[in-house]
Amino acid sequence: MSRDVIIACDFSSKEACLSFLDKFEGKKPFVKIGMELFYAEGPSIVREIKARGHKIFLDLKLHDIPNTVKKSMAVLSHLDVDMCNLHAAGTGAMMEAALEGLTREDGTRPLLIAVTQLTSTSQERMEQELLIPEPMDKVVMHYAANAAKAGLDGVVCSPLEADKVHEVCGESFVTVTPGVRFADGDVGDQVRVMTPAQARSIGSDYIVVGRPITAAADPVAAYERCVKEFLG
Ligand code: C5P
Repeated sequence: MSRDVIIACDFSSKEACLSFLDKFEGKKPFVKIGMELFYAEGPSIVREIKARGHKIFLDLKLHDIPNTVKKSMAVLSHLDVDMCNLHAAGTGAMMEAALEGLTREDGTRPLLIAVTQLTSTSQERMEQELLIPEPMDKVVMHYAANAAKAGLDGVVCSPLEADKVHEVCGESFVTVTPGVRFADGDVGDQVRVMTPAQARSIGSDYIVVGRPITAAADPVAAYERCVKEFLG
C-alpha cells in the first residue's frame, strides 16, 4: 500500500499552478487537480503536469448515468492520471460501469475512489432535503461498503472516519483524507481537522493538503514538513 501527501492545486489558472510547482525544482509531489483548474484550462493542464513527472489525482467527482460515466472515465484514463473519483450516490451500477470505462486496454487503470457524503452536507440537510433519515456515520460507512462491493479502491473521507472505513471495508481499502492542518496553523474554513501525524496514526493512506502548503510563505518547506510528519 502506498501512502503519500497530495497537494491540492486549487488554482484558477495554468500560470498560477505552474509557477507554484516550479518552486519544487527537482521534487515531484503528488498533486490534486480539481474542477476549478480543470474547467479553467481543460485536459491540457493534466497532460502538462503529468509530463513534468507528477502523479495526479483528478478530482472531478463524476455522477451521471452509468453509460455516460463509463465513457467519461475512459477519456480520463487516457489522460494517464493516477487517481480519479466519483459520487457513490450514483449507485453500484454506475461505479461498476466507471471501473470498466477506466480500465485501459493493457488491463491497468488509475485508482478509483468514491465520495460518500460531502463533508459540507449536514445531518439536518441530509434528512430534510435528501430524505435520508440514518445517522451520518452509518450513511458514510454504507456508501463506503457499496463502493468496496462495486470493486472500487477506496473513498475520500474525513481523517476521523479513516479507521472505521478500514474496519468496515478492509485495511487495503484506500482512505484519502482532506481537512489536514499543522498543529500551529490556521484552520480556515475546515471544521474537523487533524495534523499530518494524527492522520498517520489513525491510518489515512493519502492526505490531501491545500492551503497549509499553497498559502505558506515557504511552500516547499511546508510540504516537506507535511511529508515528514505523515510518512515519518
Ligand atoms: O486548503 P485545504 O487543505 O482545506 O484543501 C483541501 C482540499 O480537499 C480542497 O481541494 C477541498 O476541495 C478538498 N476536499 C475537502 N473536503 C472534502 C472533499 C474534498 O476539503 N470532503
